[in-house]
Amino acid sequence: MKTLFSGIQPSGDIHIGNYLGAIRNWVRLLDKYQCIYCIVDYHAITIEYDVQEMLSRIIGAATVNIAAGLDPEKCILFRQSDVVQHTELAWVLNTVTPMGDLERMTQFKDKSRQHASNVNAGLFTYPVLMAADIMLYKAEAVPVGDDQIQHLELCREITRKFNNRFGEVFPEAQPLLSESPRILGLDGKSKMSKSLGNTISLVDSPELIREKLATAVTDENRKRRKDPGNPDVCNLFTMHKGFSTAEQLKWVDEGCRSASIGCLECKKLLADNMLADIAPIQERIAEFAKKPDLVRQILDEGARKCRVIAEKTMDEVHGVMGFK
Ligand code: TYM
Repeated sequence: MKTLFSGIQPSGDIHIGNYLGAIRNWVRLLDKYQCIYCIVDYHAITIEYDVQEMLSRIIGAATVNIAAGLDPEKCILFRQSDVVQHTELAWVLNTVTPMGDLERMTQFKDKSRQHASNVNAGLFTYPVLMAADIMLYKAEAVPVGDDQIQHLELCREITRKFNNRFGEVFPEAQPLLSESPRILGLDGKSKMSKSLGNTISLVDSPELIREKLATAVTDENRKRRKDPGNPDVCNLFTMHKGFSTAEQLKWVDEGCRSASIGCLECKKLLADNMLADIAPIQERIAEFAKKPDLVRQILDEGARKCRVIAEKTMDEVHGVMGFK
């Protein structure tokens, strides 16, 4: 089986964008690849964060992922800082990564604007650490949302540069997009994102989710109930695709275009379906919350397995670099 790698930051509540764009796809891929999933705590420190909250965020992110279906019997789940070779390989890769390529990264430009008082070198070399995450395990597939595609293109470029300089050590990793690679936030404009505060979280209460959906922006050209709407430009319809049946999608699509249903009915159906989908996840999260030690054990066991692979790769890297 080919190896697959992906990661998620422990930087706040995991939201519907993470779920539809990545995690649900990760679960579906469990039987097709040897899957390695990572809580990327070193990536999360490139912006300001609360030291007191970090550990509970790491455990929280792992808990949500396991509850959403990342069965530790079927994949490796671990945290990045438990396997030192991630930062070690990142340093090596820094030396084959052109500055100009890093300067072009749109996420770096966006984050530099959002965090203007803290534009640190870690934020700049963030994609190099991502490349190290992937390459350490010689992963060939990387399931992500579309905001990470540019980083993966750079990872492939870094792979080529390394292989050209030192010999064919690493495969070029391919991105795998889910059916919902880009979910917008409640404002219907920008990407749903922890840092923009426009999210529906997987741990929000049913009441809060209904309330958030009720205020979510739909097709802005549909001003009145009797105006026909356009589902193609409505973020709510994108979310429906993640939670509703083909028959329900048809009902929403036709109803919206002909104005036979209003946004309220559309939102109610979406809320019902979303809540039905995530209720079992929330139940499992509540169960795991009673046993934080179990989640830690799963992460420790995952790190133990990863270290074996990581040591072997670094040994090979040191060999081709003339260190041995
Ligand atoms: P992060 O933590 O921002 O997001 C985790 C995953 O969720 C996807 N995602 C979305 N998909 C659709 N719509 C959205 N609104 C949305 N928001 C987030 C992301 O694309 C991602 O797949 N840099 C990565 C973490 C990382 C990584 C890696 C990923 C570190 N090393 C190596 C792949 C391989 C990140 O910040 O993800």
